[in-house]
Amino acid sequence: MNPTQEKLKVQLEQALVGAFGPEFIGIDPILVPASNPKFGDYQANVALSLSKKLGKQPRIIASAIVEKLDVSEICEPPEIAGPGFINLKLKTAYLEAQLDSIQTDPRLGIPTAKTPQREIVDFSSPNIAKDMHVGHLRSTIIGDAIARVLEFQGHDVLRLNHIGDWGTQFGMLIAYLREVYPEALTTANALDIGDLVTFYRQAKQRFDADEAFQETARQEVVRLQAGAQDTLHAWKLLCEQSRQEFQVIYELLDIKLTERGESFYNPLLPGVVEDLEKSGLLVENQGAKCVFLEGFTNREGEPLPLIVQKSDGGYNYATTDLASLRYRIQQDEAKRIIYVTDAGQANHFAQVFQVARKAGWIPDDVELVHVPFGLVLGEDGKKVKTRSGDSVRLRDLLDEAVARFRELLETKIQEEGRNESEEFKAHVSKVAGISSVKYADLSQNRTSNYVFSYDKMLDLKGNTAPYMLYAYARIQGISRKGEINFQELGNNAVVLEHETELALAKYLLQLDEVINTVEQDLLPHRLCEYLYELSKKFNQFYDRDRGVRVLDAQEPQRTSRLILCDLTARTLKLGLSLLGIQVLERM
Ligand code: ARG
Repeated sequence: MNPTQEKLKVQLEQALVGAFGPEFIGIDPILVPASNPKFGDYQANVALSLSKKLGKQPRIIASAIVEKLDVSEICEPPEIAGPGFINLKLKTAYLEAQLDSIQTDPRLGIPTAKTPQREIVDFSSPNIAKDMHVGHLRSTIIGDAIARVLEFQGHDVLRLNHIGDWGTQFGMLIAYLREVYPEALTTANALDIGDLVTFYRQAKQRFDADEAFQETARQEVVRLQAGAQDTLHAWKLLCEQSRQEFQVIYELLDIKLTERGESFYNPLLPGVVEDLEKSGLLVENQGAKCVFLEGFTNREGEPLPLIVQKSDGGYNYATTDLASLRYRIQQDEAKRIIYVTDAGQANHFAQVFQVARKAGWIPDDVELVHVPFGLVLGEDGKKVKTRSGDSVRLRDLLDEAVARFRELLETKIQEEGRNESEEFKAHVSKVAGISSVKYADLSQNRTSNYVFSYDKMLDLKGNTAPYMLYAYARIQGISRKGEINFQELGNNAVVLEHETELALAKYLLQLDEVINTVEQDLLPHRLCEYLYELSKKFNQFYDRDRGVRVLDAQEPQRTSRLILCDLTARTLKLGLSLLGIQVLERM
């Protein structure tokens, strides 16, 4: 709810109490944005809902409320419509004053959260020695956008990379490393074993083919857990190698993350099992320690267990998540913990959360949220693959987006007869190419699958990054053409007359509400939709035929319209920055 809505709500509540007495204190006036701009900007539906209780016709109730309603500073005289809606239309002078006040504010009038808190966003989280795949790309892009929104709102955000850096697969990797690069276990230097994914595949082949090797691998796990120097050293080398590969992607995408991998929680795992035992939840089932779940059954309808310690004594993914959950609550003092992973892990999180709740580890003021997302599909509706059928490497995917945008840009530059430097072209292509991949992902409702299409994401028209970036650059073009410094436009200078100006102005004032919604529901596509709609509203305002003149308008309209241009650009820039997208002054 934006400040205007809040003020109106308070006034409506007071009018209700004024008309019908103190027993109506705290009744929600049911204020919603008007369904059709014809009816104004907001509509209060409370008269309809009180009809039964008061034994009166809604229209009569509505007029009794309106009689006591004092909104003259904000609105035109309220109107009663239909069966008893109270329609409210914002005064132009009020809108002008609102715009004047946000114009001087770097936050564009958006207040920070009333109660800032520690929030954790667990995202990206690839696995050592394995490919960072498109699923991790989605997690990285969505998680980063969520973290940016929360940070902007003033929350204390911990961005955690829960890397898969522990587990029995390291036994196999280290045993193989010992065979093929024995020197690696003793030298201090980082090793160059080339592509880790290939290395993983070879180790796995060796493991599958040779039983003696399997035994060596198992011993290596034991040595790792016991903290044997050389084994630990090999483990660190493998992690470091992967880390460097991940870092390339994070730098390309401009992502900041704190690494706190699964291994971090390793010392805490026995405590998890002990405490579950103490709380009486632990059951032994075929040698494994587990907790039976409610609401999860197998095909025979029997309750399913969540295993926290395998029969061989090993711990698993769930144990680690239970340990990390406790750590995040007790040590990090997080009030909301957000996990960004593919929808396929929904059950895992539901189960972990349930067990932690049953064990009494989740205080009432802590919120646990799994933020699921759908699959990335190729244009044939199947998993994204290269032409040779391999899964796509993220690096190649991003490079390809940049290269393709570059082609479009070159053509455009040529058509327009411009002369641009190599530096300019490289920079613009990089920003636009990477942004296109991010925006294509973020603009979809994350819960659905989405089709990865270069042609679609690079399209200059439509709900795409290039469209947004051009809209922004076009506005900066106005300032260049008119030799105007947007920062030096006068204060208190907004005058709204034309229909397209009013529509744009009202829309600009809704950013606040959108950001609040994203903060709550963690759906970044709502912000994309807003920015896209804003660009369209701007284009209508700036349209030769349907819109208004700007640079060649008379004063005071000229300055006022330039302010609207500037506010639109700043809103786009701010909104895009919350999506992790950088703007371009010119492109
Ligand atoms: N490493 C996991 C994967 O690749 C994702 C980890 C997500 N975070 C967590 N706390 N479980 O699927």
